[in-house]
Amino acid sequence: MDTPVEKKKVMLSGIKPTGDLTLGSYLGAIKNWAERAEQYDCYYFMADLHALTTRNNPADLRRRTLEQLAQYVACGLDPQKNTLFIQSHVPQHAELGWILNCYTMFGELSRMTQFKDKSAKNADNINGGLFTYPALMAADILLYQPDYVPVGEDQKQHVELTRDVAQRFNNLYGETFRMPEPFIPKVGARVMDLLDPHSKMSKSDEIGNGRVCLMDDPADIMRKFKRAVTDCDTERCVRYDPENKPGVANLMSIYSAVTGKSFAEIEAEFEGKGYGAFKPAVGEAVVETLRPIREEATRIIKDKAYLEAMCRDGAERASYIAEKTLRKVRKKVGLVAK
Ligand code: TRP
Repeated sequence: MDTPVEKKKVMLSGIKPTGDLTLGSYLGAIKNWAERAEQYDCYYFMADLHALTTRNNPADLRRRTLEQLAQYVACGLDPQKNTLFIQSHVPQHAELGWILNCYTMFGELSRMTQFKDKSAKNADNINGGLFTYPALMAADILLYQPDYVPVGEDQKQHVELTRDVAQRFNNLYGETFRMPEPFIPKVGARVMDLLDPHSKMSKSDEIGNGRVCLMDDPADIMRKFKRAVTDCDTERCVRYDPENKPGVANLMSIYSAVTGKSFAEIEAEFEGKGYGAFKPAVGEAVVETLRPIREEATRIIKDKAYLEAMCRDGAERASYIAEKTLRKVRKKVGLVAK
């Protein structure tokens, strides 16, 4: 007799293809994603439709979308074990996005802090898409009936709104959408800016010397680490004290994350050696960690046929699931079947 196979819980997340992926994105998050696929049925997509809410250079957006996808794969997200796709390749997102717009209230959208922040920053381009973005994000999520949506703090309000919209829809038409839970991912190392150890190493910060990008070449990485701020304490020794020595503590966290060494081991290794030896050692360890990722990402980007096949396959699998949900929705709201 067949034993029923236990279905894995579903997890989904979208990634806006803006900015550049950094060492912080890798050590803090992406590094842990590969192993999730063992436990969950994971969907990840490049949210290119969301990127249109702010102005982009079209060629840059296209290049970034593909490059970041390649970088995620190079970081260990296996396209066989995860469903990876580009949002605009699955038109069901836009269609459900429209429908859910009609079940999302003006007042709710007006309360979104991201809308308020972004409209303050883009005062010359407060477009309708920026305002209704959360309804598209609700569609992104609800199409796949996920159990969990891993998001950062800044996106939690959007997941809450998604739940409210799903609840409203289910109350009107009967059980249609599964209620997703926000998932607070296990955080890896919290990597701070090399020139300002009080702020996080950011994906979108334009001035690049405090942040290391996944695609930086080794000489750049070494230069950035050699220039990293250490602390102007008198002892000048490698000791973990985030309160008084935030620059050194940040470098120690990075070194620990890439070598697996404990803080005590690192302190022993650099005993009596000072920052002059420590900073290039961290740089070299980071160069070696990022080297295979950069090489693999470069290889994938050049292999157009592989990349296209991967996108096509991902979009096909995604749209099969998405269409199942959308078919129910169309029927429930009163659209005539095709
Ligand atoms: N809004 C998210 C961000 O800016 C990206 C995103 C779009 C997303 N759709 C999503 C995240 C669905 C999780 C689920 O980072």
